[in-house]
Amino acid sequence: MNILGIETSCDETAAAIWQTTPGGGRILSEKIASQIDIHAKFGGVVPEIASREHLTTLPPLVDATLQDARLDWSAIDAIAVTAGPGLMGALLVGTAWARAAACVHNIPLIPVHHMEGHLLAPGLDNALPPFPFITLLVSGGHTMLVRVDGIGHYTLLGQTIDDAAGECFDKSARLLALPYPGGPAIAKLAENGDATRFSLPRPMLNKDNLNFSFSGLKTAVMYAVRKLEKEGGQSKLDAQTRADMAAAVEAAVCEVLVGKSLRACRNEGIGHLIIAGGVAANRHLRNMLDEQATAKNISVHMPRPEHCTDNAAMIAFAAAQRLAQGFTPPAEWDARPRWPLSELDKF
Ligand code: KG4
Ligand code: ZN
Repeated sequence: MNILGIETSCDETAAAIWQTTPGGGRILSEKIASQIDIHAKFGGVVPEIASREHLTTLPPLVDATLQDARLDWSAIDAIAVTAGPGLMGALLVGTAWARAAACVHNIPLIPVHHMEGHLLAPGLDNALPPFPFITLLVSGGHTMLVRVDGIGHYTLLGQTIDDAAGECFDKSARLLALPYPGGPAIAKLAENGDATRFSLPRPMLNKDNLNFSFSGLKTAVMYAVRKLEKEGGQSKLDAQTRADMAAAVEAAVCEVLVGKSLRACRNEGIGHLIIAGGVAANRHLRNMLDEQATAKNISVHMPRPEHCTDNAAMIAFAAAQRLAQGFTPPAEWDARPRWPLSELDKF
């Protein structure tokens, strides 16, 4: 079975084809058109511009994806499309286009929850660990710890009470005059930084629960930057100082994410951990988690960095997993910009 995945929930237009095989499956082709350069000028995603870009980019991108896989429409058995959560206009472009294509080619259309796509994404590159496992989902809008007892069986163990981890990277980056998106920019700058020069808080790390809070961390960065500016203007914020601050932010965020993930494994008595979502592309986080989890006999599974950030292969893959479990796509559904994972089956 060949499933065409479509993803337009934010600032990446993406299409991919996942082919299911008796033992699993494989990616036949995947394409991503990033809008980052367009939005970077504005310091963040401009929803109206994102929708318009999806509109012009999606049709030729799907053609290119089919061509790359050397398939025509007659070989596509179903379309899987991100139905939410995300930007309403952006979701509407993808879902309306997918609906029309499914209708023209007379094939089923499967609405997919974007976070379920991220959550299962490690399965694109390697077999998923046995159930149950814990997933740390860290993206621009979400920070969640989820217990996964099976495909479609997700229990939220904890989440952020304010900013998401990606949001903390993005906002801190802005304070350091770095371009959008902030996560990769901070990670790059942090390579030459000394994480110990600035002491930043590790919010809620020692609280006996699985929730997160990152807005205080961003505020601490703001005060530290202001203090430096007051002391000596821009000269105090020289390249090394900014690199040290970037390293301190990265260390603080990663320490909290790793600490809480290991706590979740311990609390639930589970020995398999997945990390997914854009922030999971962070090399420092991957190394720290690998080291600390291995020391505790916990196996860590992560998608390749390009499958951590938004992509369409994860959407097609999630649909394939649901279909294999006997999922029947609803006859009627709407794009849902806000869609809690706990309402997975409410369309
Ligand atoms: O999952 P994603 O691509 O989009 C959403 O669904 O939100 O995640 C985007 C987020 C942004 O906040 C971005 O700054 C962050 O992931 N990110 C990173 C890295 N790459 C992307 N954060 C830290 N280090 C990275 N290497
Ligand atoms: Zn995402």
